[in-house]
Amino acid sequence: MRKKSRFITLEGIDGAGKSTHIKEISQWITNQGIEVVCTREPGGTPFGEKLREMVLHEKMDIMSETLLMFAARNEHIKTVIEPALNQGKWVLSDRFTDASFAYQGGGRGVARETLRTLAAWVEVRSPDLTLLFDIDPALAQQRVAQSTPQPDRFEQEQRLFFDRVRDAYLERAQQNPDRIVIIDSAANLSDLKSTVINILNERLV
Ligand code: TYD
Repeated sequence: MRKKSRFITLEGIDGAGKSTHIKEISQWITNQGIEVVCTREPGGTPFGEKLREMVLHEKMDIMSETLLMFAARNEHIKTVIEPALNQGKWVLSDRFTDASFAYQGGGRGVARETLRTLAAWVEVRSPDLTLLFDIDPALAQQRVAQSTPQPDRFEQEQRLFFDRVRDAYLERAQQNPDRIVIIDSAANLSDLKSTVINILNERLV
């Protein structure tokens, strides 16, 4: 029998290492005989990638930043995520709405109520599973400094900003315990990889 479509998202502060796991997760899905679409936010569509360029590099008001994140998300949902899920494919997205609650909500101080309204406006379906790569912001900042020669607007933020972003992610996890799984991203890479695969086997098979 064909498995029902699933929507999986990866989250975490900059430097948490979430992107490292995309390949093995998509390989795991393919091994189940299922077609997977790997995508990211902000971006995921030609229009969204243009907005990404702008929102990551140009100075702007916080609400403009928030609206652009949701404009890119709307396009992404309507033209990539929903069509793929409707065709029975699985979708793996590097970030989604939780990132807006964490960065714009926690980091920048946009009211949660505003974000809930925008999310309700664009979201057709919540993720089935979200892996939250959690790490001490001090360690994450060291990783970003070593690996990113030209940091974007978010990566240039100070430690306190990332403390707030992390707290907001953890708050989301507390509010959505059935959907969001917290992964200790300070563990060594091979342990982390097996943790991720174990979660997929437990939650999705
Ligand atoms: P990121 O996945 O970190 O890209 P890269 O690995 O190429 O640096 O995403 C880019 C940034 O966008 C990241 O700092 C978080 C930010 N962001 C928001 O502030 N709000 C959002 O809703 C999303 C999706 C991302």
